[in-house]
Amino acid sequence: MKEILSEYPIIPVVVIEQIEDAVPLAKSLVAGGLSVIEVTLRTPAAIAGIEDIIKNVPGAVVGSGTVCSESQLQMSIELGCKFAVSPGATNSLLKKARDSGFNYLPGVSSASEVMRGLEYGFDTFKFFPAEAVGGTTLLKSLHGPFGDVKFCATGGIGLDNVMSYLSLANVLSVGGSWITPSKLIKEKRWSEIERLASQASSLTQ
Ligand code: 3PG
Repeated sequence: MKEILSEYPIIPVVVIEQIEDAVPLAKSLVAGGLSVIEVTLRTPAAIAGIEDIIKNVPGAVVGSGTVCSESQLQMSIELGCKFAVSPGATNSLLKKARDSGFNYLPGVSSASEVMRGLEYGFDTFKFFPAEAVGGTTLLKSLHGPFGDVKFCATGGIGLDNVMSYLSLANVLSVGGSWITPSKLIKEKRWSEIERLASQASSLTQ
């Protein structure tokens, strides 16, 4: 997981409402320089959308998001996702992910949650919901006791604050929906999404 986050410092978090949007959406992100995509399992269209992207957008590195159960983790593995992300974590998810060896990013928002993840062998976490729980201030505080732990910060991140996260020693990447606003997806404005992706990817070049 660490390698994926290091290679892709900005991860678009997408919600697919219409299956037919999945491929053009992914193509516009890849064309804009963001090849990694977290497709949230929040909609009935998500699973078919993931399958379509994997089949039809060869440059895309697709992961599942909002993974809240062992069965969703298992499904992500079977679909051919490259990784799975959870907003939090449960003991059963941590155990299943560890035993499967799959690239898994559990969510944390406190020191105790980091400690529980470490007990299960994880040292890289989604920090969520970043802005709401203390943002860069909390991340800096966590760096003291957990010097080797790395984070992907998500939740409330956009163009205005993305660099303040990426400049932290313990942040490998950030995720967010600002690159794929639901309004643009609904209106199928793919070139605008490509422009937002280019704008985001140029920040890290
Ligand atoms: C999520 O899982 O919802 C992500 O963290 C996205 O958060 P955002 O919509 O605030 O960018």
